[in-house]
Amino acid sequence: MTPSRTSRTLGALLALHAGDALGAPLEFKPHTVIRGLHPGRNANAEFPRTLTGGGSHSWAPGAATDDTDLTRAVLLAYRDAICNGDDVVNKAAEHFLAWYRGDHWPSRRQGSKPRDIGRTTRKALSSLASSRHPSSTGAGEGSAGNGSLMRCIPTGLFQNDPELLIKESQSISAITHNDTRCTIACAAYNAIVSALVVRGLSVEDAVSAGERVAISLESGRTDGPVYGAMKIGRTTSLVELADKGPRKLGFPGMCGGFVLNSLTLAVAAVLDERRLDQVLVDVVRVGMDTDTNAAIAGGLLGARDGEEAVLDEWKDLLQFGPEFRRLVDQILTAQGVIPEEGQSDEVGLFSGNHGLNVSI
Ligand SMILES: *[C@@H]1O[C@H](CO)[C@@H](O)[C@H](O)[C@H]1NC(C)=O
Ligand SMILES: *[C@@H]1O[C@H](CO)[C@@H](O)[C@H](O)[C@H]1NC(C)=O
Ligand SMILES: [Mg+2]
Repeated sequence: MTPSRTSRTLGALLALHAGDALGAPLEFKPHTVIRGLHPGRNANAEFPRTLTGGGSHSWAPGAATDDTDLTRAVLLAYRDAICNGDDVVNKAAEHFLAWYRGDHWPSRRQGSKPRDIGRTTRKALSSLASSRHPSSTGAGEGSAGNGSLMRCIPTGLFQNDPELLIKESQSISAITHNDTRCTIACAAYNAIVSALVVRGLSVEDAVSAGERVAISLESGRTDGPVYGAMKIGRTTSLVELADKGPRKLGFPGMCGGFVLNSLTLAVAAVLDERRLDQVLVDVVRVGMDTDTNAAIAGGLLGARDGEEAVLDEWKDLLQFGPEFRRLVDQILTAQGVIPEEGQSDEVGLFSGNHGLNVSI
């Protein structure tokens, strides 16, 4: 059965959250170290699915790290925009700042700083804290980290106008990451998300839709960096990459936080026909920026397979699982997607034992 739009929307957010939590204990461990833990032929099957927490920041099992936290910030901005008519870019900047300062951020002591924060994000948010102009805080050309791609997915899920989807993806990225590789990667990624979730296209057609956005934003050229990264994703075998490692396979980078490496992995992941958990495990096994790479790939996989494909043992532990469920319900209700869909194939989605009892 093809997943409903509601299921794909929630699936994208939960699989991003789960990828973050699955990868967090191994953040910045190189491929060789992770491969050493399960060196056999069945390494993927042997890799534990349990969300253990831990890692260099001592996360609780299922905890949101910066990837999920900042995705939540953008999600709250879309709630504010769609339900209250606020400006989504200004709201995103406001929620980023609240996270940065620890103001009313769930499970953080008031005023405490984030445990993990990317360099570019820190620089931009500290300047935003004093200037309050989200259009002039971007770190500029040369800072091409994955820190905006990892949080951009709510635009793909909730901005249904294709022009605005591109514009808002770029503007929200630019609050911290305004290098064009980052802003274009976010727009192309969200075009894939929207094609899967809103338009219900096949994976193949969705990836093509993302590639067309990259080409058009790279001035119609097919030798631009973002389109190039997506093209590599099409021919990358994650099975092989997870077994042999990026260096041996001549992969263009070690997947340590460069936005284009993360995008390549996400494209390879969504085109990988195995189960969501098998694909996510292999993204983690590639190593280095394991949580962010798995969060970014997880977003596309959840959009592809829906929330039913996210393991129950993961859904039970995810810090913001119940809140994401509530926000998706609230936003899709405001957009009129629920109850239309809810009355057909959506019955029971919100009554499982993982969520709140939201009446639809
Ligand atoms: C990025 O933002 C900075 C600060 O606002 C600005 O100086 C720079 O020109 C911007 N670069 C791009 C590529 O937009
Ligand atoms: C990639 O994103 C992660 C977020 O977990 C961040 O900590 C890291 O600094 C980013 N990498 C780069 C190179 O910006
Ligand atoms: Mg992280």
